[in-house]
Amino acid sequence: GAIGKDGYQHFMEKELHEHPLVIGQTLQRMIDPATRQVVLPELPCNLAEVPRAVMTACGSAFYAAMVGRFWLESVARLPVDIDIASELRYRDPPLTKGSLGLLISQSGETADTLAALRTLRQNSAHILSVLNVEHSTMARESDAVLGTAAGPEISVASTKAFTAQLTVLACLTIAVARSRGMLDAAGEEELVTALLDLPSRAADALAQADAIRSMARIIADASNVLYLGRGSMFPVAMEGALKLKEISYIHAEAYAAGEMKHGPISLIDNTVPIVASAPFTPLFDKTLSNLQEAKARGGRLLVFTDTKGAERVSAIAEQMVVLPHVHDFTAPVVQTIPVQMLAYEVAVLRGTDVDQPRNLAKSVTVE
Ligand code: G6P
Repeated sequence: GAIGKDGYQHFMEKELHEHPLVIGQTLQRMIDPATRQVVLPELPCNLAEVPRAVMTACGSAFYAAMVGRFWLESVARLPVDIDIASELRYRDPPLTKGSLGLLISQSGETADTLAALRTLRQNSAHILSVLNVEHSTMARESDAVLGTAAGPEISVASTKAFTAQLTVLACLTIAVARSRGMLDAAGEEELVTALLDLPSRAADALAQADAIRSMARIIADASNVLYLGRGSMFPVAMEGALKLKEISYIHAEAYAAGEMKHGPISLIDNTVPIVASAPFTPLFDKTLSNLQEAKARGGRLLVFTDTKGAERVSAIAEQMVVLPHVHDFTAPVVQTIPVQMLAYEVAVLRGTDVDQPRNLAKSVTVE
């Protein structure tokens, strides 16, 4: 039957509330409940023999790829090249023989990503695609597909498909790390435990709606917003800024917090709210000192942190949202949910067409 909004005001709101379910369904496909080990349904090649990966995608899926690169490099020690699909296809990069081409797409139909897939194929890469629509053109042209069990996503701005992509990439990272001898049984158990905890922690993030709404009131009056994050939180900041631009039409820019001093710090005054993703990870102290620099220049800090970071964040932030503290590995998944919710709440306050923003399409099948 037709897909309805189930009592929600917008599809985007409904789909945000599906995060816990979708993450859980995606994990179910990839973690054997008996052994608690990652078992990937399909692979294009022997992961132990892959010399490097080339990741590519468009839009939000590209930010999922950035988190994936962070994981594959830091946990699995696999060298990763990454580029947006519309650039990769014309860049003519020299490809290491036997590379893994890793494509990420909700629709499996995005013209630029499909063209990048074909470029990688011509360079004889193994093609593995992370797709939500499993009967798509990209699925047909891939050697193997890892499905995101997000179900149909109606809202043009991606939400649940993004966290499902992260979930798949996290499982892939564990499988690659194991096959490359970078993860022993105890290490895998630790990461799998963190992953299995995610549906509940995603629900905790959704429960922060009131605090997020109160941040949204500050953003809704702004013309420019700066999003900051470091490490795995940099792509989260980029996802937050993209979502805000897409559906509220407020200009937002995401910057790696440590790079702010090389440019955007000149923009900071009390009219440019700063949204920071700063959970208690190994980069917490560095991020916090970047935020202090911004505050010293009149910046208004709106900070997403976690229970372990809350006390120190509260000393400098005008507003904060406190998420549960989770393993560093899964922190980007938990921290993504509130930045998406923030964009949603701002768009609602501004009265935009949340599910069908102007000039945008759900699936861009032209170059
Ligand atoms: C469009 C959508 C974005 C999406 C991007 C990539 O621009 O508006 O939300 O992230 O395409 O789509 P894909 O289907 O390849 O993930």
